[in-house]
Amino acid sequence: MLPVASKQGRGLFHLQGTTGGERLIEEVSQSASSQNPRSRSGAFPLELAYRLILMYSLRDDWVLDPFLGTGTTLVAAAITGRNGVGYEVEEGLVKEARKNILSCKPLGVQILEDRLHAHRQFMAQREAKQNNGGLPKGRGGSPSYWNETLRLPVVTRQEIQLRWEVVQLIEEILQPPIEKGSILSNALSFQVTLRPFTPEDCGLPF
Ligand SMILES: C[S@@+](CC[C@H](N)C(=O)[O-])C[C@H]1O[C@@H](n2cnc3c(N)ncnc32)[C@H](O)[C@@H]1O
Repeated sequence: MLPVASKQGRGLFHLQGTTGGERLIEEVSQSASSQNPRSRSGAFPLELAYRLILMYSLRDDWVLDPFLGTGTTLVAAAITGRNGVGYEVEEGLVKEARKNILSCKPLGVQILEDRLHAHRQFMAQREAKQNNGGLPKGRGGSPSYWNETLRLPVVTRQEIQLRWEVVQLIEEILQPPIEKGSILSNALSFQVTLRPFTPEDCGLPF
């Protein structure tokens, strides 16, 4: 089971681990003394894979995870529009990874919703500062631009063109049958199609 993003977050996301504790990227910890290590939550937080995949690959690229586990890395790949291939020595984990990957659409929307809220909050604080006479227009002062697609005030001209995308479709690529017992038999791969994100995706008026 994957950690899920929650709305209370600071930073990019705030994760609710299956162990019950909330985890931030700067405070990640996981007990190695668990009786059953297979029941532990994701091996590392989603946001780590998410950030690295955004930094080092492009939309439509392929991400290979030779140690698939519960599929955290490939979930991050899918919600950022990368296709994925994974291998895993334990058959049961492939099933779990498949379930996590194929059901990741709401998580992708949730992450963008959190970003939207964080941006709105930032803009409101900025506006408040300006009303107190703190910030001159154009130098941290009131927004000069508007992003029509996201229906957001933005600070710079470049942000007018900013578009976000979410997963439209994840198609699993079925493998030809491979001899049982071979590591290659525990594989999965998928291709992702994205569509534009709009504020309606998170129930906000468009
Ligand atoms: C730390 S977990 C991987 C976490 C995963 N990359 C993710 O994003 O969630 C390591 C996984 O590698 C698997 N593994 C170990 N040796 C392997 C091998 N030789 N071939 C394939 N998988 C292997 C383990 O069963 C374990 O599930």
